[in-house]
Amino acid sequence: MANELFEKARLAREKAYSPYSQHKVGAAIKTAKGAVFVGCNVENSSYGGTICAERTAVVSAVASEGGRIAIEEVCVVTDASPPWSPCGFCRQVIAEFAKPETPIVIANLKGEVKRYTLRELLPHAFTPEQ
Ligand code: THU
Repeated sequence: MANELFEKARLAREKAYSPYSQHKVGAAIKTAKGAVFVGCNVENSSYGGTICAERTAVVSAVASEGGRIAIEEVCVVTDASPPWSPCGFCRQVIAEFAKPETPIVIANLKGEVKRYTLRELLPHAFTPEQ
């Protein structure tokens, strides 16, 4: 599954709208229903209106499946080395719909891959359970 997510995130990355940073980011998430949703970063001339690839993918999944989706795996692809990991804002948004043990795979186009869990990236998270 990781390879399928990587390929979908890689393709989504090509759709990025990033004229300001020039950094393209793609993300793919698999939900418990077995569906895969993708996202890319969408920047804005205000800068602050920029949306990261990971959040774009989560929002797409909710808009399609509805309600409290269940994220089973996340893959993020950049061309950075070492690969970029999700920003704090995106970690929190992923945590809303994932479990502490949910894998978050970060990769780049050179084939560098790092595999984390959400717990590792966002320990002691504030979640809907609170
Ligand atoms: N970006 C993402 O899409 N995901 C992240 O987790 C980190 C940053 C985007 C936002 C912005 O368009 C560009 O990368 C540079 O920060």
